[in-house]
Amino acid sequence: MGSPALAGRNRPLGGILPRMTTIVGIAGSLRAHSFNAALLGVAAGLMPEGATLEIASIKGVPLYDADVETSLGIPDAVLALKARIVQADGLLLATPEYNNSIPGVFKNAIDWLSRPATDIPRIFGNRPVAIMGASPGGFGTILAQNAWLPVLRALKTRPWFGGRMIVSRAGKLFSESGELNDEQTRAGLRDFLHGFVAFVEELHAEAR
Ligand SMILES: Cc1cc2nc3c(=O)[nH]c(=O)nc-3n(C[C@H](O)[C@H](O)[C@H](O)COP(=O)(O)O)c2cc1C
Repeated sequence: MGSPALAGRNRPLGGILPRMTTIVGIAGSLRAHSFNAALLGVAAGLMPEGATLEIASIKGVPLYDADVETSLGIPDAVLALKARIVQADGLLLATPEYNNSIPGVFKNAIDWLSRPATDIPRIFGNRPVAIMGASPGGFGTILAQNAWLPVLRALKTRPWFGGRMIVSRAGKLFSESGELNDEQTRAGLRDFLHGFVAFVEELHAEAR
């Protein structure tokens, strides 16, 4: 029996079509020129053959308010994000770092996505998740990435620990338009994505 997270939509049709692996990527920043959004954009062009990265956004997700949840239910922006996650085979978080931890806007979006708690298994349960991040500083979001670990554990995801993608000095590496002008970082990103996709595909093969 496969888990909900592994029952992807892209099953081979009668074994004829090769299966496409879909990863949904979410950047935890609302900034138009976000380095993390740029990192995701670059990642979309470096995916291995047979895999795609679809980019979703936390824009429009309101601040979590239990009274709003009780009276109005789950906001449309959250429902839309849930649908994107459920349709994908894996989740890639591009996290900024604020004060050595997770930015509030990003955690807030994940908190909404975890409501109602009975929906956690459908959205996050056993779902392959990778974390990466970019920062203009010298430590490339390493503390924010670590801060995500208890969250991923609480949501019973399947975090991938086979690689690290820590982009320091992002201001020097990205152009104004979000291009990544550093071959070493591009190569590291490519390896990271290939590793994560291989992990996702292995989990799917096991679940079949
Ligand atoms: C409130 C606040 C706290 C920050 N704290 C950190 C930090 O602890 N470590 C770090 O590397 N950068 C820190 N930064 C700088 C962010 O890394 C930088 O703003 C980055 O561009 C945010 O990601 P984005 O480009 O995807 O929006 C902080 C920025 C803000 C606004």
